[in-house]
Amino acid sequence: MRPVEIKPNIWSIAVNDRTTDLFEGLWPVTNEGVSYNSYIIKDEKSVLIDLTKDIFSEEFVDQIAKIVDLKTLDYVIVNHVEPDHTGALTRFREIAPNVTFIGTRQCINMMNDFYGMSENTMTVKDGDTLNLGKFNLKFLTAPMVHWPETMFTYLEEEQILFSCDAFGTFGCLDGITFDDEAGDNLPWYEKESLRYYSNIIASFSRNVLNAIEKAAAFPIQIIAPSHGLIWRKDPMRIVSLYKKFAEYAAGPTEPGVTILWGTMYRNTERAMEAVLQTITAEGVPVEVYNVADVHPSFILPSLWTKRGVLVACPTYERAMYPNMVHMLDIAEIKHVKNKVAGYFGSYAWSGGAQKVFEGYAEKLDWEVVGALEFIGMATEEDIQAIQQIAQQVAKKSKEG
Ligand SMILES: Cc1cc2nc3c(=O)[nH]c(=O)nc-3n(C[C@H](O)[C@H](O)[C@H](O)COP(=O)(O)O)c2cc1C
Ligand SMILES: [Fe+2]
Ligand SMILES: [Fe+2]
Repeated sequence: MRPVEIKPNIWSIAVNDRTTDLFEGLWPVTNEGVSYNSYIIKDEKSVLIDLTKDIFSEEFVDQIAKIVDLKTLDYVIVNHVEPDHTGALTRFREIAPNVTFIGTRQCINMMNDFYGMSENTMTVKDGDTLNLGKFNLKFLTAPMVHWPETMFTYLEEEQILFSCDAFGTFGCLDGITFDDEAGDNLPWYEKESLRYYSNIIASFSRNVLNAIEKAAAFPIQIIAPSHGLIWRKDPMRIVSLYKKFAEYAAGPTEPGVTILWGTMYRNTERAMEAVLQTITAEGVPVEVYNVADVHPSFILPSLWTKRGVLVACPTYERAMYPNMVHMLDIAEIKHVKNKVAGYFGSYAWSGGAQKVFEGYAEKLDWEVVGALEFIGMATEEDIQAIQQIAQQVAKKSKEG
């Protein structure tokens, strides 16, 4: 995208990535895309905040050159070394060999690890400031939001928080830059912020809350993240959304039940069908995901926000239906704790899926209200027992 002046002498340079199918090699963004946002501050000293992914190096450099002469650029602030924000570094140094790279001690070490770069660096600590002339920048470390070296950069005069991954969303910026330009698409970006959060940030929720608390000490007019919309009309909107998402990790979650299901010959599916009205009769919403069809990226938002989870799948080779194992592995990696849960599924001779479920539930501290393996087609008795499990999950999900 062309540079957008967000305040006098402060520019957004965003690259829309419509090429990458899997963000981080994991999370589908084929339809949604994702943006990598960088920022330029022009003053007596000029600064670029964050770079971009390697494959976009050339267009990135072209856009920056519209605003500053790269030969005169003084600093690049590296809030985060993950290559979606530093991949262009090698190319960038060829064009601007004298620029000084600023980051935390771990950031500087990591740039050496990733790019063999050890010169022209400046290490900053939490609370350090940098005078650019008229403007002053303050560096606020934000460890594990998303990596250990991560920091925020705060522009004191304009009260802009350059927050890197924090407060980011998936989704390209289709001709817009700010929250107030999103119009009817704002709920879509907010939905993508939850998907981004549950896919990328969820494991670090405690750190997100710490970082929000730290940033709260400063007045904020604009939240300028490294992915998605810049929030200037209502910067606290995205902060409060992130706070809510982060609090789901350990605090109260929303009433409702996520059903994760999979089947080979529909015995488990028919049992699953029989619990849907049991759940809605408790007055709570239910979201139903076939784990063989839906990528975990699109399931995690429901799993993260809803208190109840029902796992429904058959035994497969004395263990669990493999797509469900994959989903539960992802849930474990993403620290999806704080759930009330149940299991049911069909088997033919040995069973085994229930035991696998119980293993995950233990690792994730899920409160298991019941589990039932049934042979072949569920009998009326089986169905009643499964409905009881579902009812308990739905009921308990209302307790927060
Ligand atoms: C490839 C394959 C492997 C299976 N392995 C086991 C097994 O190890 N133990 C068992 O009790 N049932 C096993 N089953 C049987 C299924 O669990 C059983 O058919 C069940 O009813 C399938 O449930 P569904 O109709 O929901 O797919 C296996 C079935 C298939 C197709
Ligand atoms: Fe990151
Ligand atoms: Fe990122």
